[in-house]
Amino acid sequence: METCAALILAAGKGTRMHSQKPKVLQTILGSPMLACVYKALKPVFGDDILTLVGHRADLVQACFPEEHFVIQSEQQGTGHALACALPMLTQKGYHQTMVVNGDVPLLTEDLTRLFLEKAENFDLAFATLTLTEPGAYGRVRRNGSQVEIIEAKDYDEASYGPPTGEINAGLYLIDCKLAAQLLPKLTRSPKSGEYYITDLVALASQAGARVAAINLGSDQRLLGVNSPRELSDMEEFLRQQIVDGLLDKGVICHAPDLVRVGAFVEIEPGCELTGPCEIYGHSHICQGVEIASHCHIEDCRIAKGARIHSFSHLVQAEVGEGALVGPYARLRPGAVLEEDSHVGNFVELKKARLGRGAKANHLSYLGDASIGQGTNIGAGTITCNYDGKNKHRTEIGEHAFIGSNTALVAPVSVGRGALIGAGSTITHNVPEGNLSVARAKQKNFAQRLLGRDDAD
Ligand code: UD1
Ligand code: CA
Repeated sequence: METCAALILAAGKGTRMHSQKPKVLQTILGSPMLACVYKALKPVFGDDILTLVGHRADLVQACFPEEHFVIQSEQQGTGHALACALPMLTQKGYHQTMVVNGDVPLLTEDLTRLFLEKAENFDLAFATLTLTEPGAYGRVRRNGSQVEIIEAKDYDEASYGPPTGEINAGLYLIDCKLAAQLLPKLTRSPKSGEYYITDLVALASQAGARVAAINLGSDQRLLGVNSPRELSDMEEFLRQQIVDGLLDKGVICHAPDLVRVGAFVEIEPGCELTGPCEIYGHSHICQGVEIASHCHIEDCRIAKGARIHSFSHLVQAEVGEGALVGPYARLRPGAVLEEDSHVGNFVELKKARLGRGAKANHLSYLGDASIGQGTNIGAGTITCNYDGKNKHRTEIGEHAFIGSNTALVAPVSVGRGALIGAGSTITHNVPEGNLSVARAKQKNFAQRLLGRDDAD
C-alpha cells in the first residue's frame, strides 16, 4: 500500500445541484460531503491522499487547509482530471492510484478496504453496483473477457440492448504506468465534449491489461450525489443509519425520526435526545446529558449530566458537568460553562467563561468576559464589549452579585464578592467586596407641585 495513493476527483461544477457552492462542499448532516470522503479514506491512506480541485478551488482548499491539492483549471471531464493529477502522483513515486469521485459521501473505510482487497491484482479495476434503475450512471458491458463502460448519455439501446442494471460506481484502482500509456489515447465524447475516465476501461481491455469490474452488490454507500434530491435521499439514509447506531448503543431518542446527528458526532450511551434536534460537527456529548427538542448543537463538548433545554443554539461551546442551559439560550464560539453553572432564557454568551455554579438566568449578553464561580448575573446584564473599533474584556470575580439591568462598559473589572446595584452603568473598576451603584438618584415629587392639579 505504500506506493498507492488515493485521488479524489472534486473539481467538477456540480451543475445539476444548481448552487454557487462547489458540489463537494454541499453538506450532509452538517458536514461537507468531502469531509465524509476523507473520513473513509484517512484510515486506509493516511497522508497519501491527493484531492483534485478546480471549480471554486479556493473555497474547497480553505475548508480543508491541511490536505494536498492539485488543480484542474478547466473541467474537461474525469479522464482529463486524472491526466492533470498523474504527473504529481508519479513524481511522488506512487505506482497505483485509487481514484474516487468526490461526490460519494457514504463511502466507508470498510468498503474502501474491501474494494482494494479485490482489486489488488489487476492493472485496472473498478467497482460496480447492480441497480434496478441504472439512472444516469455509466453502464457496464461485459463481453467475454472484454469489459467496457458506456455513459448513460451515450447508451444506445438499439445497438447495445437493454441495460443489465450493472453500473459504474466511480471507484477505480489504476496502475500509474498503464494510465500514462492510455490517457493520451482518450478522445472527447461527441455528446459532452469531455474526456471520460471510464473510456480507459475499454482501452485497457483492448490492450490486454488485467481489467476487473468488481461487483459490490447494490450497496447504497457507493451512490453519488448529483442533484438536490439525491443529496436529500442520501442525507436521510445516513441519518437513519446514525440514529439506529445510537439506539443500538444505548442512547435514548424520543421522536427518532426527527433526530439529526452528523457523521463526526460522538454521543455516549445513557444520553437522552428529543427530536427535532440537530447535533453536528465534531460535537462530543457525554454520558447522561439530556438534550430537549429544537436544539441546534455544533462542534460542542457537553460534559456528563448537563441538561440543554428546548430551543437552545450552541456553536463551538463547552458545557461543564451538571450545567443547565436554556430554554432559549445561545452559546456562541468560545462560551465555556463550568460545572453546575446555569444559563437561562435569552442569554447569549460569546468568548465568555462562566465559573463553577455561576448563574446568568435571564436576558443577558456576556461577551469577552470571565465570570467567577458562584457569581450571580442579574436579568438584563450586558457586557458592553465593543466600542465601535475594538473589543474589550469584562472580568468579574467570584461570588459577586450583578443587579438586574446593569451595563458593564468594558474594559472593566468587578472584584470578588462585589455587589452592583440594579440599573447601574459601570464604567470604572469595582474593588473586591464593594457595593457600587451608578445611576441617577431617584427623586420623588408630589405631582400637585408640578401644577398637575388633575392628578389623583
Ligand atoms: C461518473 C462516471 C459514471 C459513474 C458515476 C458514478 C464518468 C465520465 N462517468 O458520472 O460512469 O457511473 O460517476 O457516480 O466519469 N470531476 C472533476 N473534473 C471534471 C469532471 C468531473 O474533478 O472535469 C469530478 C466531479 O467533481 C465529481 C466526479 O468527478 O466529483 C464525477 O463527476 P460527475 O460529473 O459527478 O460524474 P457522473 O456524471 O456522476
Ligand atoms: Ca456523480
